[in-house]
Amino acid sequence: MAKARVLVVDGDPSGRYLLETILTSGDYEVMTAEDGVEALEVAKYDTPDLVIADILMPRMDGYQLCREWKANPELSPIPFVFYTANYADEDDETFALSLGADAFLRKPMPPQRLLEAFDSILEGSHAPLQIQRRPAVEDETRVLKAYNARLVSKLEEQLAELHEINDVLRDIVSGTVNAIGKLTEARDPYTSGHQKRVSAIATAVAVRLGYDATFCEGIRVAGLVHDVGKIYVPAEILTKPRRLSDAEFAIIREHPRVGFEVLKDVKFPWPIAEYVVHHHERLDGSGYPDHLAGDELSMGARILAVADVVEAMSSHRPYKTAAGIDRALEEIEQNAGKLYDADVAAACLELFRTDGFEIPQVTDAHITG
Ligand SMILES: [Fe+2]
Repeated sequence: MAKARVLVVDGDPSGRYLLETILTSGDYEVMTAEDGVEALEVAKYDTPDLVIADILMPRMDGYQLCREWKANPELSPIPFVFYTANYADEDDETFALSLGADAFLRKPMPPQRLLEAFDSILEGSHAPLQIQRRPAVEDETRVLKAYNARLVSKLEEQLAELHEINDVLRDIVSGTVNAIGKLTEARDPYTSGHQKRVSAIATAVAVRLGYDATFCEGIRVAGLVHDVGKIYVPAEILTKPRRLSDAEFAIIREHPRVGFEVLKDVKFPWPIAEYVVHHHERLDGSGYPDHLAGDELSMGARILAVADVVEAMSSHRPYKTAAGIDRALEEIEQNAGKLYDADVAAACLELFRTDGFEIPQVTDAHITG
């Protein structure tokens, strides 16, 4: 005897897999569809002997599928069974049967009982269910409203779970970014804290420019790791207490590109690697490593560039003493629109001179041992 062919319609892959496993063990042949639209498509070419459908599915839910199934003269004789989650209530069952469904089964059911139910439906011996078939539904709108309300609360629960997962992922990104920052600074004690200070300045500039929270967060993260490429520069050069030779500067100038290589495969929700590789570019093309100019430079790179210069000039370095914040701001002012983006420069100057912003004191990250 040929195996009975069952079409399983469920939006959840694990739900489909579970039913398929149970049905196969019971000697059924199984076809699957992810939603009502796909089920109708499958049935056009491959008519099943039985349909088992969930209710909540994308594109076309189980109710609509049942309605269309039973309205099609070729498909309507094929038994249609709902097998759905326990958040359905009595009204859903009544409503489903009123649409012409042959049975309404609630998840989860023991596999053996489930198979017995399918067997009896196929044999046409499910008398109690037949009796319940097509009861009158006085108020379809009321049933659907109640069903929708339960769906909304279910979705709200899932949304809350997603928010929790999102918070965990955010913590992981933040922990990873801090680890990268600390590793960079461990090799370069003189610029320890530099990345955190650049990050703070750049974020404040982005906020002052009116960018949204998502963009500003990207700038904050980029600032925290923008010098990661310095792991390529020998420690003797980074910590050299005198002016660097041209050859030594050439090595230092490679750090944005190395930073890009380190970060390019990390799936940040912002183009962090692109901001980092261009944080030493200048508006007139005189920067490095790609000598980009004008519109070729992203806003992220423009903001990082200004923040980096302000921080570097106001902090002490091995080969020079600090010029101070006033001198740093003069540099930005004098070269606004030439080396530095005019809007970014203006926002930075207003930030310090009008808003009274101060570069935060950052606990330097010295890793010992
Ligand atoms: Fe840098």
